[in-house]
This record gives sequence, structure tokens and C-alpha cells, in this order.
Amino acid sequence: MTFIKNKIDQLRKNILKYEYFYHTLNKSIVSDAEYDYLLNQLYNLELENKELITSDSPTQKIGVNLLNQFKKIKHFFPMLSLENTFDLNGYLNFEKRIKKYFNINQEKSLCCELKIDGVAISIIYEEGILVRAGTRGDGYTGENITSNIRTIKSIPLKLKGSYIPKRLEVRGEVFMMKSDFLELNERSKKDTNKLFSNPRNAASGTLRHIDPNITAERKLIFLCYGCYFFNEKDKKFTTHYKRLIQCSKWGLPVNQEIITCSNYQEVLNFYNNFEKKRHFLDFDIDGIVIKVNSIELQNQLGCNTKSPRWAIAWKFLSSERITKLNDVKFQVGRTGAITPVAYFDPIDISGVIIKKASLHNKNEIERLNLHINDSIIICRSGDVIPKLLSVIKSIRCKNAKKIIFPEFCPVCKTKLLENEEEKVIRCHAGLTCNAQKEKSLQHFFSKKSLNAIGLGPKIINELIKKKYVKDPIDFFYLKFFDLMKLKKMGYKKSIKLIESIEKCKKTTFKCFIYALGIPNVGETVSEKIANYFITLDKLLDANISQLNCIEGIGKVISRNISNYFSTSSNYNMVIKLVEKAGVVWNNSEVLRLNVKKTHFLNKKVVLTGIFNSFSRIELKNMLMSLGAKVLNNISQNTDFLIYGKKIGSKFFKAKKLGVKMISEEEFNCLI
Ligand code: IVH
Repeated sequence: MTFIKNKIDQLRKNILKYEYFYHTLNKSIVSDAEYDYLLNQLYNLELENKELITSDSPTQKIGVNLLNQFKKIKHFFPMLSLENTFDLNGYLNFEKRIKKYFNINQEKSLCCELKIDGVAISIIYEEGILVRAGTRGDGYTGENITSNIRTIKSIPLKLKGSYIPKRLEVRGEVFMMKSDFLELNERSKKDTNKLFSNPRNAASGTLRHIDPNITAERKLIFLCYGCYFFNEKDKKFTTHYKRLIQCSKWGLPVNQEIITCSNYQEVLNFYNNFEKKRHFLDFDIDGIVIKVNSIELQNQLGCNTKSPRWAIAWKFLSSERITKLNDVKFQVGRTGAITPVAYFDPIDISGVIIKKASLHNKNEIERLNLHINDSIIICRSGDVIPKLLSVIKSIRCKNAKKIIFPEFCPVCKTKLLENEEEKVIRCHAGLTCNAQKEKSLQHFFSKKSLNAIGLGPKIINELIKKKYVKDPIDFFYLKFFDLMKLKKMGYKKSIKLIESIEKCKKTTFKCFIYALGIPNVGETVSEKIANYFITLDKLLDANISQLNCIEGIGKVISRNISNYFSTSSNYNMVIKLVEKAGVVWNNSEVLRLNVKKTHFLNKKVVLTGIFNSFSRIELKNMLMSLGAKVLNNISQNTDFLIYGKKIGSKFFKAKKLGVKMISEEEFNCLI
């Protein structure tokens, strides 16, 4: 029993804290799904242990705390909440209950409208003049926000038309359009670096701003969803629908998306229609509200402590689900990055069954303070990729286990190294790690790497499976008869492949570096490294600070290169590839590039004529890779004009301006 009491106390403490942040400080510190889940847990525990219910339990009250900055107002009629359902069954139960009182199938007995996700307000009109407006507060006492409400353009300060009652209370929702919210946040980020988490919070904050000028500046919208009369003679509007039409005639804004209906099928259609449409609306709705249309019947049904019996909110399912974390596994990617992946009890989000989500890196586990067996919230971010949003720490169970990030690669047992700048932990065993092998070998022989023509992913995978290869060195020792044993490999194809593997040994330093598949070392970086170190020996001896000296190579890449070569299996493999397997490249090419580089670096070059040795695009790319800017028109600022055959007007203009001219032959000599 004390265990249950403690659990109830803990739940209440957390829920009250979340409510205070949400309603009073306009900050969401938990997701709606987590809040609903906790409240539901508390509700169920109290249902089973009625003696533990206290009057201050969050299940017993409607509203929330008030800010001190506003004067208090007492509501004439309590501002209640709505009973919620999330499915058709819940709605049918509601229907069954009210059917006891009247024939639901009678014509137009129900009213369906949108449940706008904003802030509930009450406005009092006396003799048609707006005299007072307040927030819901705790349902009985609210905050007097009359000055702020007066600034909302769509709220009339004076009602128009006939039958204006002596006193009228209008209830409705104040909210912000999604587009205005985004604009406000953009401005707010620039001015104060503070952001509202959603349009509801922005509306609530704006509505309760101490300065009505600020409220006036930001665009708030009001839509009325109900009204109360005070005198018997004013009560001639006998249905909810008629009352809303009358409000509209008095100049009050009423949502046009409202229907009267006669059976559950019509209600279901309304729900389905807006469930689909809601993402395309410029304001947030979180469900629909179904109300008994007849005011007389509403009065007969009455209310319970929290909500009226004559209405129900049928809420849309959020795309967030709560489930249990069963395990975290550590995956090894092609570049050796270790990615933690969360495995949980399968859940259905928008018709898709999801059972795992990437946790990205070690920091994410720490940020979430994630433990195995935790209750977790999953959503589909951008409606596609599953994401672990948060952990419900308040209900962490006793068998929750801390997640320990491995020190060694889960596949090859190499010690893992952290690249702090990149926030990634890696296994640097590269090609010698089984997890990285398949993709790494494909990369090693791919077009931009060693370019072994005909050695595609399928053949590589088959060779690995048959255990003919485990690293790139093995490929250079493959026998003709081994290849003949592969699927769809005949005599001719095998010979060709052996030839192609032999050919690919002749490469460039740049391609060789690129082929190693060091994280973040792409073509450009490989070229920079090749040009800088010129020989393999120098690269193998390089330390981080030397690598860092290379223009365009920052801390992350330097660390990755250093980690790669300091892993002995990589170091040995590179040496063997060159010394034993016979991979070679021509160092002079690197030297040549260096000569070229100084000549054209940062120079403005224009081309004219037709070239023999290369296409214009090839020449342009070559010059750009040497640091030149290739421009279309000659000017006084042009450094060089490179010309081929059939010269045009550019040639003569360059001559006139004294631009240095280089013929194709001269260019070839230069490089
Ligand atoms: S009727 C007695 N109609 O939903 C219930 N409420 O949990 C009176 N809401 O804070 C509410 N759209 O501000 C009603 N069409 C609608 C609504 C609506 C949004 C809000 C309301 C209240 C909450 C109920």
C-alpha cells in the first residue's frame, strides 16, 4: 500500500509541476503524450484505490495556478474542461450514456465543431458593451485580462444587431495562426533569442503579457464556441447551434466549420475529414468537440466536477507513442562510427509498426538519461524517421539498467576512439573490421578509388561470403579458379576481372588515400593530403598538428586521419598493399601538380579557341583544381588568356589590354 501511495504522490508531484510550467509559465517541459499518459496512470491508480483520492489531486481539479500580475475575477459559471476520448469506442460510450436521456437519432440532435488548441477565455458584455474578460484560471477564478482582450481586432467592443441581452457571457478560444507564430518566433529569436515552443504557448504568453501594447502588436485570433444568458427572457435561443448563429449576428467571430448531425456516422465523417485536413489548416486543432444541441437537454444532463455530461472532445491521436525500451545495440557503420540503436516494444504510428530508433551518439544517451526498461516516448520526426523524444523518468522502474557505451568494437573488439570535435566514437579498424568490411571493400575498388572495372558489390560480397577475401590485399592474390567458382562467372569474365584487378594496382596517391575510406576524407581532402605529403612515408609519420596545417583540413579530419594510421591493423595493411601487393603510384604527378599550383593559384583565367589535348570542360576543371578562377570575359583584371586553335575576339581584346597569353602548347609545358 505504501508503495502505491508513494507512486501516486510521485505522479501528482510531477503532473502539478508540468501543469505549473505549461499553464502559468507558458513552457512545455514534457510532451502532450507524456502528460496524458501520466495523468491517465494517476487516474487509474486512484480508481483502484479510491481511499487515496485527495481533493488537491490533479485528477480532481479543472484548472491551474494564476499569475500574480493580474487581478482576479470570479466566473459566473464555472469554466469546465471537456471529457476526452481518443477513439470511436469512447465516443460511442458517450452516445450510449446520453441516449438514456433522449433519442439520439432524432434530427440534428448533436453539434460537431473543431477543438482549437489555444487558450480558453470568457468575455462579459453588458448592454452589448465589452466590460470584462478573463482566463479560465482554476475554473472558478481567472485572471482579469480585459485590457489585453480589448486589443484583439476580431473581438467587438460593442455588439451589433438586435436582441442584445442585458448581460451575455461569451466563451471561446484565443489562438495564433501557425504562420504568424513562425514569424513571431523569427523576430523573437533576433530580438531576445527566446523562442515560444508552439502557437498555443505563444498565444497564452501574448494574452497574459503585462503590456497590452505587446498583445496588440502580435496577431491573436478569437473564435467563439459558446455563450451564456442571464435572464430567462433572453433564453429563447434553444439550441447550441442557434446560439452560435446569433453570436455571429452580433458580430462575434464563430468558426464556420460547424455541423449539426443526427447519427454517429456523420460524427465519424466530420472527425475523419478534419483528421486528414488538420495539417493543412493554418491553426492548430487537437480534435473535434461533439455537443448535445438542445440547451434544455444540456441542462438536464448537467455537469460533474470536471466537465459537462453533454459534450465530449474526440481528440486526434498524436504521432507520439509511449513504449518500453528493451535494449540498446551498438551498430558499426562503414566508417566505423558506432551508432547506438534503441529497440523497444513495437508500436503503431500512423499505420507503420516501429520497433527501433537510432540514438545517433553517446551524447544522446546521456542527454536523454536513458536506461534499459525505461518508459520512452517515440515519434516519427518529419512523419518518417522514428525518433526517441524523451524518457518518462518519473515512472522509472526498479529494474532500470544504465546503458554503458562499449569501450571495444562490438564486432572486431578493436579499442574504440572518440573524436570529440565530431562527437562520434569510432572503430578505426576499417577494412579489418567485419562490420565495415563489405562496404569498405566496395569503396576501396570503386571508380573514384582504385577503379577495378567489373569488381562490383555483388562479386565482392560473394567473395567475402566464400571467405576468399577479408581485406583488399587478398584481392591481389585471387586465383583464376577461385573466380570461376563464383555465380555467373565464366572463363572470359574471370580472366577480365583478374586483368582489371592487376590494372588497378597502378593508381595515384590521391586515389589511394581516398580508397582507404577514412571518415570525412573525400576526394578533395585526399587531394590536399597527397599534394602536401607527396610520399606515403611522410603521411604515415604525420602528427595531428602537421595535418592541421593543411589548408581546409580542420580538427575533425586531422583527428580521424591520425586515429586511422595509429590503429596498427590499418598501418600494416597500407604498408603491405604497397610493399607486397604491388599497389603503385607516380609521385611525379604529385610534384607536377605542385608546380602547376603556384602558377595558377588565385589567378583569373579566360579561355578561347579549340583545344587539342582536352575538352574545354576538362581544361576548366583542371584550372579550377589548381586554384584558378575561370571567367568568361576579358578585362583589365584578367591574369592569363589560354588559347587554342580558331581564336576569337577575346584573343584580340586580351592583346590590346596587355593580358599575358599562353598557348595550348605552352600550357602543356607548364604542367
Ligand atoms: S466547449 C464546458 N468547444 O478545449 C466545456 N471547448 O478541455 C466548454 N476548446 O479549455 C468547452 N475548442 O478552451 C469547447 N469548440 C470547442 C473548443 C473548446 C477548444 C477548448 C476549451 C477548453 C478545452 C476543453
